Amino acid sequence: MELTANWSYPTAIRFGAGRIKELAEACNATGMKRPLLVTDRGLANLPITQNALDLLESSGLGRALFAEVDPNPNEQNLAAGIAAFKAGNHDGVIAFGGGSGLDLGKLVAFMAGQTRPVWDFEDIDDWWTRANASAIAPIIAVPTTAGTGSEVGRAGVLTNSETHVKKIIFHPKVLPSIVICDPELTVGMPPVITVGTGMDAFAHCLEAFSSPFYHPMSQGIALEGMRLVKENLPRVVADGNDLEARAHMMSAAAMGATAFQKGLGAIHALSHPIGAIYNTHHGMTNAVVMPPVLEFNRSEIEERIEAAAAYLGITGGFNGFYDYVLKLRADLGVPDKLGKLGVGTDRIDELAEMAIKDPSAGGNPKELTLEAAKSLFKASI
Ligand SMILES: NC(=O)c1ccc[n+]([C@@H]2O[C@H](COP(=O)([O-])OP(=O)(O)OC[C@H]3O[C@@H](n4cnc5c(N)ncnc54)[C@H](O)[C@@H]3O)[C@@H](O)[C@H]2O)c1
Ligand SMILES: [Fe+2]
Repeated sequence: MELTANWSYPTAIRFGAGRIKELAEACNATGMKRPLLVTDRGLANLPITQNALDLLESSGLGRALFAEVDPNPNEQNLAAGIAAFKAGNHDGVIAFGGGSGLDLGKLVAFMAGQTRPVWDFEDIDDWWTRANASAIAPIIAVPTTAGTGSEVGRAGVLTNSETHVKKIIFHPKVLPSIVICDPELTVGMPPVITVGTGMDAFAHCLEAFSSPFYHPMSQGIALEGMRLVKENLPRVVADGNDLEARAHMMSAAAMGATAFQKGLGAIHALSHPIGAIYNTHHGMTNAVVMPPVLEFNRSEIEERIEAAAAYLGITGGFNGFYDYVLKLRADLGVPDKLGKLGVGTDRIDELAEMAIKDPSAGGNPKELTLEAAKSLFKASI
């Protein structure tokens, strides 16, 4: 089967190998004439990024790059990006990269025309209505990892560099107008990023599937997303050039982020403070805390995890699913403890306070109390 398609759910997605060639045409479709390509430092000089800039330049769209973006990007990266957007008189953003480049690019397009500080648009109640929606520049998203699904999301994660807290900045118009999902762009990911981002996609599907809210559409997407990861993450780790498996992982990533409108849970609530304080990779952190969280939630999710296990071809119900997660982690070389990612036991109280306040905590099937968060950190570190 040829893995190429045009989808309009949840936004316009041009899916297929080689489709980065359509970048200039996508700019025309959104009316962008002076796009700013935003990515992170690591990607700036790689051939995939330079090729995208070549495509823009040869179509008369300029060659503007902003790449002062850290992993777990912060408000200083955002301020610099907005300054570059204004200085170049740009009229749209190509958000290019993993979650870091995508999120920061989306937020530059959002914030360049606003007068209020970015923290006023945290994903709380209807705070997004404070924004001047007509001042949001168009966004084209081009993912280069297969994990966060930020390319189909209406939010960007921004770390406050003073408080080290990760905030979700939300506006419906932050959903990119066009996404180019070209699995060839993910072929050069370092193996550890392939694993980490793939486990992030799995965590999105698992947490969306487990969260207690009524959202059958998400439920179905999350289940099939888990299956795609199960079938294809080991394949891309074994052979990074397996384009078919890379394509399925790219779909799974977009599906995870589409599904987690239903809610995330304690995996992300624990992982966000760890990432903000220790700068660990987000997806890898999720993978480490996943089994203790599964065990913690067991009483609330046993039945639905049994159903998922049956669909995924895993025998043994909840226990079989739990063992599958342990084996997947081990096979992929994910550490079993956060200590191996450089996390110490000295800040557990602070981490637990942050975890219970994290917006993802509310989607957990079982209440994440302070005591529970502390013991989950103890078990994970
Ligand atoms: N918006 C959302 O819904 C959402 C969801 C989950 C996570 N996030 C955020 O996304 C970020 C993590 O994103 P990520 O896991 O994609 O990692 P990342 O964007 O931080 O990238 C990790 C590293 O991989 C490199 N890289 C990316 N693609 C590459 C490629 N094709 N070839 C070679 N190198 C490549 C980057 O340069 C970087 O050094 C975190 O900040 C997290 O908070 C956002
Ligand atoms: Fe995530």
